[in-house]
Amino acid sequence: MNDPRPIGVFDSGLGGLTVVRALIDLLPSEDIVFFGDNGRFPYGPKPADDVRRYAVQIAELLVARGVKLIVVGCNTASAAALPILQRDLPVPVIGVVEPGLRAAAKVTGSGRIGVIGTVGTIASGAYQRAAMHVEAAAGAAARAVTGSRTGSPIDLYCAACPGFVEFVEAGEVDSDQVHVLAERLLDPVRRAGVDTLVLGCTHYPLLARTIGDVMGRDVVLVSSAEETAFEVRELLERTGALAPPERAGQRAFVTSGDTTTFRALGVRFCGPEVVDVEAWRWPDR
Ligand code: DGL
Repeated sequence: MNDPRPIGVFDSGLGGLTVVRALIDLLPSEDIVFFGDNGRFPYGPKPADDVRRYAVQIAELLVARGVKLIVVGCNTASAAALPILQRDLPVPVIGVVEPGLRAAAKVTGSGRIGVIGTVGTIASGAYQRAAMHVEAAAGAAARAVTGSRTGSPIDLYCAACPGFVEFVEAGEVDSDQVHVLAERLLDPVRRAGVDTLVLGCTHYPLLARTIGDVMGRDVVLVSSAEETAFEVRELLERTGALAPPERAGQRAFVTSGDTTTFRALGVRFCGPEVVDVEAWRWPDR
């Protein structure tokens, strides 16, 4: 059985395109509709109630466009709204927080994992909750294999990085200014001696060069994009909802911000698939 309907993905802005890129690479036959809420960016400093309301509005818009699945390509919105979206929407919803942590848990040697994200994401405690799930799953797997009682423990060191996303939205990803800011904001996780750093905001992979420079070569940077794409593929396979194979997927991009800027930066950050960008205006703006 195949399902030709598109996958919906959304973010507060351009960061979710890192997830779109991973989906295009892993699932080239799938149609994708991406919504960037650039007109209301940033979500990170906003109260969780506002972010939840925005996420529900966008998800309803995507459902109205006939998507078969929604990926919340934004950690801040995943942290604030994932349970509500999963409870209320008529289609499955996947977030980016747990996939990112799961990917980090696979690569860490010491169990000391850093997480950087927006103020909203870090304040929500979503990564601590995800760590409990990931540990519980690892524990169950370890018990199944060895009969031992626990999974490997994860020590999380979290830091908010206000200001990073504004550089990305301005297309400024490796300037001296962003480097100076990164030196200051990453200092706590660097001093914690983490061996793995989760880029807990979908905008941050676009700053990977600067973040990697500051953290040093011994620290592995982990983005949730690839692991999220694997989770999408697994769900579509399991439910018989993959797009018909051997066809080229179509991609649509919608923004509540400026379409010209979105297109210019979208091509740079995502690739040549960003061709036509549709404008969306929220009625109350
Ligand atoms: N890309 C979003 C995230 O993953 C946040 C950017 C913002 O603050 O709006 O959290």
